Amino acid sequence: MEIIHTISALKAILKPFKQAVSKIALVPTMGALHNGHLSLIAIAKANAEVVVCSIFVNPTQFTDPKDLEKYPRPLAHDIKMLTEAGCDFVFMPTVTEMYPSFPTPENWLIDLGPAEFVLEGEFRKGHYQGVTQIVKKLFDAVSPDVAFFGQKDFQQVLMIKNMVRHFNLPIEIVSCPIIREDDGLAMSSRNIHLSHDDRMNALVLSKALKFVADNYKKLKLKDLLTEAKQMINDTNGVELDYFTIAHDDTLLPIEHEEKGSVVALVAAKVGETRLIDNMLLG
Ligand code: PAJ
Repeated sequence: MEIIHTISALKAILKPFKQAVSKIALVPTMGALHNGHLSLIAIAKANAEVVVCSIFVNPTQFTDPKDLEKYPRPLAHDIKMLTEAGCDFVFMPTVTEMYPSFPTPENWLIDLGPAEFVLEGEFRKGHYQGVTQIVKKLFDAVSPDVAFFGQKDFQQVLMIKNMVRHFNLPIEIVSCPIIREDDGLAMSSRNIHLSHDDRMNALVLSKALKFVADNYKKLKLKDLLTEAKQMINDTNGVELDYFTIAHDDTLLPIEHEEKGSVVALVAAKVGETRLIDNMLLG
């Protein structure tokens, strides 16, 4: 596996592959890799001849400077995991490589549709502008045919699809299943911040989602939501930001029990760590 730090070197290395292979895949990450990230690499490998993984902790998507500061960066471990997973190239740029005039903010504001401002977008103002800004820069650097993202960040996938549509990019966006610990907790780079008690308390998020998924056809919408929120509110050390059952494209809450594509989404602070999770329903 080759490690590349600059956009020019990356473009030069990938150039011969553009003609020779039918698909180059990109898996963007912020590092602190776990099996959720590795599942994206495995799916990418099964669908493309060349797999590029990027590791870049993107400052423009953090709304809390403390969150950025304490973001885990176990680089040697990440490189070992990617090598073992059979990743071909890892792109690890510096902040100034991606943002030459950093810390002066670049002019980036695109129309991501109304779903930008709900759920995570409401709690983390400007977050999806930062996410789409860096993903566009990574797409420009790699020119992938296909890019893989986790359903774990449900709203993020939607926003990236909207960005791709906005610029008419010829890049396929693939959403991949959420990888969970054996007890149901969705894997996340932030889980290492959970204390032993937090780790136990955090289980209520996937339990509440599972309760909703299991009872979606059986209970009234209002009762489902009341029960799920109650489960979370009754758990010590867990502070609920939102629990919603929403349309999977607008992320607006559904009014009645509906057929079609509906998703339950949750965000909560567990101890000092903010976690998100979701589950498709129906
Ligand atoms: P990061 O949080 O490192 O996640 C990288 C990718 O891994 C994302 O597509 C995310 O949805 C996916 N992922 C995380 N946990 C997962 C799990 N348990 N199962 C499956 N996939 C999982 O998301 C980002 O980085 C950044 O916002 C990024 C897109 C790289 C832009 O900076």
